[in-house]
Amino acid sequence: MNDILSRRSIRKYTKDPVKEEDIRSLLEAAMSAPSAGNQQPWHFVVVSDKAILNKITQIHPHAHMLKDAQVAIMVCGDESLQKHIGYWVQDCSAATQNILIAAQSKGLGAVWLGVYPREDRVEGLRNLFMIPYSITPFSIISIGHPDEKKPPANRFNEQRIHYNLW
Ligand SMILES: Cc1cc2nc3c(=O)[nH]c(=O)nc-3n(C[C@H](O)[C@H](O)[C@H](O)COP(=O)(O)O)c2cc1C
Repeated sequence: MNDILSRRSIRKYTKDPVKEEDIRSLLEAAMSAPSAGNQQPWHFVVVSDKAILNKITQIHPHAHMLKDAQVAIMVCGDESLQKHIGYWVQDCSAATQNILIAAQSKGLGAVWLGVYPREDRVEGLRNLFMIPYSITPFSIISIGHPDEKKPPANRFNEQRIHYNLW
């Protein structure tokens, strides 16, 4: 619970490398996410190549932190794996959020970079990564050891809670 409440978007990173075993843990967390009918319609691209991380910043207008990130994970949706049409977006969202929470639990800093449904980002990343047309880049998580601290956000809002009927 604490990892969920304390998680914030971290966009500044030290130069310390992220351990292979930590990246593996993040991927395990991603693939532990719930999905519609357990369809798991996802793929993950682990990006540590600095040149590629830099190229992403030319495609994605709000991804400048990737220039200092040690690694990024791109979550992609595979509609051909869907049993329940249309749910791939929610499934990939759950996987993305699990990566963020797992990063927090490992003491890493991370931020979710939205890709889908912005066509220019989807097509730009498809070209850069040579992703087949059956696969849709959904999100990128920028990851590194934190070089900034943020307090918990505390967005709890009683007014958004409805009991039984609206
Ligand atoms: C779907 C989605 C897309 C986002 N895209 C970006 C982005 O492109 N660049 C960025 O710096 N942050 C992005 N964020 C992070 C949000 O700005 C951030 O989660 C929000 O401001 C709340 O702050 P917090 O994560 O620190 O609690 C995105 C978050 C979500 C859920």
